[in-house]
Amino acid sequence: MEDLKSKIVSTTNLDDLETLRVTIFGKKGVLAAEFAKLKDIAPEKKRDFAKELNETKAALTEVFEKQKAKLEAAALEEKLAKEVIDVSLFGYEATKGSLHPVKATMDKIIDYFTALNFSVESGPLVENDFTNFEALNLPKNHPAREMQDTFFLGDGQLLRTHTSPVQIRTMMDRKPPIRMIAPGAVFRRDYDLTHTPMFHQVEGLVVDKRGVVSFANLKAILTDFLHYMFGDVEVRFRPSFFPFTEPSTEVDISCIFCEGEGCRVCSHTGWLEVLGSGVVDPNVFKAVGYEDVSGYAFGLGVERFAMLLHRVPDLRSMFEGDIRLLEQFR
Ligand code: PHE
Repeated sequence: MEDLKSKIVSTTNLDDLETLRVTIFGKKGVLAAEFAKLKDIAPEKKRDFAKELNETKAALTEVFEKQKAKLEAAALEEKLAKEVIDVSLFGYEATKGSLHPVKATMDKIIDYFTALNFSVESGPLVENDFTNFEALNLPKNHPAREMQDTFFLGDGQLLRTHTSPVQIRTMMDRKPPIRMIAPGAVFRRDYDLTHTPMFHQVEGLVVDKRGVVSFANLKAILTDFLHYMFGDVEVRFRPSFFPFTEPSTEVDISCIFCEGEGCRVCSHTGWLEVLGSGVVDPNVFKAVGYEDVSGYAFGLGVERFAMLLHRVPDLRSMFEGDIRLLEQFR
């Protein structure tokens, strides 16, 4: 009995304890063998023998349960110690995607104009001569057509060289007043530091009854828009020429790199050209059948804005899909 107790308390793991349990308490164990003797014992001694045996069993059970609880607690401690989590270790960084800078810039531009109730229009990338040129006061053989190096597709079709044909399509579809922008891809035969054969423009057009919108509105809205995009810059309207606007003006901002001092980016002029715009030429309204209206229009290159905002030196890198460029815009 004392021998069994000391065997129980000297076990060091649950497996050994279980083996011992079978030897002591099992069907063929020590206690079972003792109880089996009962039948051979003289009736007058049976009672005492059984009593003593039950007490022994109870005492052993108590020691066993204690030891079991002790070993289980030790096993749990060991497991916890082994599986401890070091919260100070470095983990893996979750990689986040990001918007392409051209898309992000486009969204920012669209946000400005939709907040002013401009509708967002679109048109086909494959255009025809009428909508891309003729209706925009660029008749066949007009020298200004050479301003834009066109991809011709044959059968009178071409890749649109600007978003201005969306002006024409929207006016032919709808009655004035119109207040729209048209963001989208355009195509020109060009490839160098600042030109790619595909790039994006945002076109703007506002038309209302004659006299309602004027050059003054154009000037106010574009000045505010450029402050929204570039912050505290100076804005300059410079006389220019577009066949579809008269008067026409190109819009410059003071160079955001040298603040007008003169640097390589602004070709030492202190100014960066960012927009084309003007008052819609009456010939354009004639082409779409509008009468007694006036309006203004503008067009800008989204990549140029993105390059200036993010100081990307080579436009071509925008379209090479190099993950290292994109990672900088997360
Ligand atoms: N379509 C012109 C271009 O691509 C930009 C422009 C649009 C100019 C509208 C004036 C008015 O260069």
